[in-house]
Amino acid sequence: VDSLTAQLIDVHELASKLYHHILVNTAAGERALDYLTKRGLSKDIIDQFSIGYAPPQRLMYQFLHDKNMDDDLLRQTGLFLEWQDGHLYDRFVDRVMFPIKNGSGKVIAFSGRLLSTENTDQPKYLNSPETKIFNKRKVLFNFDIARKAARRDGKLVLFEGFMDVIAAYRADVTNGIASMGTSLTEEQISTIERVTSSIDVCYDGDSAGQNATNRAISVISEQAPKLEIEIVSMPAGIDPDEYLQKYGAEKFKDWLSSARQTPVSFGLKYLRHDLNLDNEADQINYLNDAIKLIATVSSEMEQDIYVNQLVAEFNLDKTAITGQLRELTRQRV
Ligand code: UTP
Ligand code: MN
Ligand code: MN
Ligand code: MN
Ligand code: MN
Repeated sequence: VDSLTAQLIDVHELASKLYHHILVNTAAGERALDYLTKRGLSKDIIDQFSIGYAPPQRLMYQFLHDKNMDDDLLRQTGLFLEWQDGHLYDRFVDRVMFPIKNGSGKVIAFSGRLLSTENTDQPKYLNSPETKIFNKRKVLFNFDIARKAARRDGKLVLFEGFMDVIAAYRADVTNGIASMGTSLTEEQISTIERVTSSIDVCYDGDSAGQNATNRAISVISEQAPKLEIEIVSMPAGIDPDEYLQKYGAEKFKDWLSSARQTPVSFGLKYLRHDLNLDNEADQINYLNDAIKLIATVSSEMEQDIYVNQLVAEFNLDKTAITGQLRELTRQRV
């Protein structure tokens, strides 16, 4: 590790301690602490994830300046904005601060959440900009903890948001990770592949979550065909954090272990999400795409399961479907 990297990490570790201190020990942090408590986060969880608060009074610059950190260094942390005259001032204001850690558990960036998203045009989550130590394409939230849990559990669970990873942790599911508000990247898939051969994808139960799931399945199977994928679909309209909040930890764990689907089974549902299957043209399109998808499955038994589902639902002649399937499978070989 070169010395600039080490210094940037030092600044982030210090900053994280100040944000955390403000949240848990000061009057300035009370509103944010209330907010987190209402969202079900205990003192232990707040400590575990080193959650903090950036108050409206911009305190960070003075704090670090007083610790003899010079502007040249601070400018490169991404924690500050700059006036035209070169003066630095805090980027994060009135936000709950989630430290983003590297694989060794060192703080390398932050994501700050607004306490309220009403009457504002600010983004709900604001991430640190890219810096020498923070490349958002590479980082996975909670990876430092999850990689160890993956050794025991044999898999990782990919969530959409930080609060979902934290919710899972509250239910003793500690192998959860999340990307940085972007779709899953090549770099992240490589990182995942290095520590496990199996991943569950558990995104939000809304259309954005379904689209993201579909994308994740295709990039993973393209780039890491040996990585085993299972899809956990949330009930319509809620995300894992809301599920935990509503039904509690036991039900949450039951859901994670029972609401599982193969990627193809998810795909067969996804293919029809914007179709009207009462319409014959849509129905024919759907069946053609469905058969193409089934043809990508290597197990004949698994293929047979999906074929039987189509035959039953659409009242079809099975030999017609298997004939078309053979044709596609032959083309592939
Ligand atoms: P969601 O809108 O699902 O947020 O975005 P969430 O995780 O459920 O957050 P809460 O529960 O409202 O606090 C999923 C993820 O997309 C990224 C964040 O990483 C978030 O966790 N995101 C979302 C952003 O980066 N910026 C935004 O403005 C919104
Ligand atoms: Mn603490
Ligand atoms: Mn979402
Ligand atoms: Mn969500
Ligand atoms: Mn949420």
